[in-house]
Amino acid sequence: MLVSAKEMLNKAKAGHYALGQFNINNLEWTKAVLLTAQELNSPVILGVSEGAGKYMCGYKTIVGMVNGMLEELKITVPVALHLDHGSYEGALKCIEAGFSSVMFDGSHYPIDENIAKTTELVKICGDKGISIEAEVGSIGGEEDGVIGAGEVADPKECKAIADLGVTMLAAGIGNIHGKYPENWAGLSFETLDAIQQLTGSMPLVLHGGTGIPEDMIKKAISLGVAKINVNTECQLSFAAATRKYIEEGKDLAGKGFDPRKLLAPGTDAIKATVKEKMELFGSVGKA
Ligand code: G3H
Ligand code: ZN
Repeated sequence: MLVSAKEMLNKAKAGHYALGQFNINNLEWTKAVLLTAQELNSPVILGVSEGAGKYMCGYKTIVGMVNGMLEELKITVPVALHLDHGSYEGALKCIEAGFSSVMFDGSHYPIDENIAKTTELVKICGDKGISIEAEVGSIGGEEDGVIGAGEVADPKECKAIADLGVTMLAAGIGNIHGKYPENWAGLSFETLDAIQQLTGSMPLVLHGGTGIPEDMIKKAISLGVAKINVNTECQLSFAAATRKYIEEGKDLAGKGFDPRKLLAPGTDAIKATVKEKMELFGSVGKA
């Protein structure tokens, strides 16, 4: 059964480790993330962007697929199904479809409008026992059509949003979606520290988890980050393993063109990436 991300995140924050949110794109992605979480006894959050939601034939299809897998694959670790960078309307659709968690990304609105819309969704999610993530500042780069200026969050605005009763808070601290450029300035730990001092026990979320050096990940966790979002890195692993399989001509040998064979190396590569991240974030054995 899908669960809200609230309890798992509060435990992670109190235990000084972080949970991975791994974005899913199809059946293979979902299966790879769930099986790895089960194997490592780690709670996990499946992220779905609005673009991936359309690609997978809508939120109801995704809820059906994930619930089916939880049962058929005998997944017993806590799993939350979470809308990633959602609009207000997208969040409502996911709540209706059976998601157990949503992100409302109001970071592109003026702060008063972000507060007003987040307040409404906090009430709706609270009534249904669904966890909710809000965002202040913005994440640089682009993800599935969501483009951010990379504006570093104002800690006082973070406190204002945290006080609305959200479950978790994402803040722009110099993080970027996709690959980090050579001249990246790094994360602003000064900002993160100021945010955690003002928001206390609120689990903080680090977006743009692909390619952040290990020492920065560990420092971010020590400063209150309890959820780290990873998307691009699984895509890169999947693409590289699939390319290798095809370049070696394995798709042409025997029945190598069978999608169940063709997609297997990529699926295994996602599993390896998820495992590496869960070990780094410290969530192994925490289910
Ligand atoms: O919302 C999802 C993420 O922030 C993932 O970022 O693609 O850079 O790993 P990433
Ligand atoms: Zn993100």
